[in-house]
Amino acid sequence: MADATITPGDNGPYHVEGDFVLIDGAGNKFEVTDDAWLCRCGESTNKPFCTGTHRSCDFIDSSRVAR
Ligand code: FES
Repeated sequence: MADATITPGDNGPYHVEGDFVLIDGAGNKFEVTDDAWLCRCGESTNKPFCTGTHRSCDFIDSSRVAR
């Protein structure tokens, strides 16, 4: 059973639910308990977290899992 689930929201961030550790490119660790929204539009001013900017930058993507 997975410890976390990742849901790419239509035209918005990844919603990650569960307990997990986020490690940035410099190796800094951020422990998340419960949930977080991670930017996937590239326009957040607080990456890797979503700031809601995707709503004003015309980000469009509806990811679906292909099997
Ligand atoms: S997905 Fe929300 S700011 Fe990028």
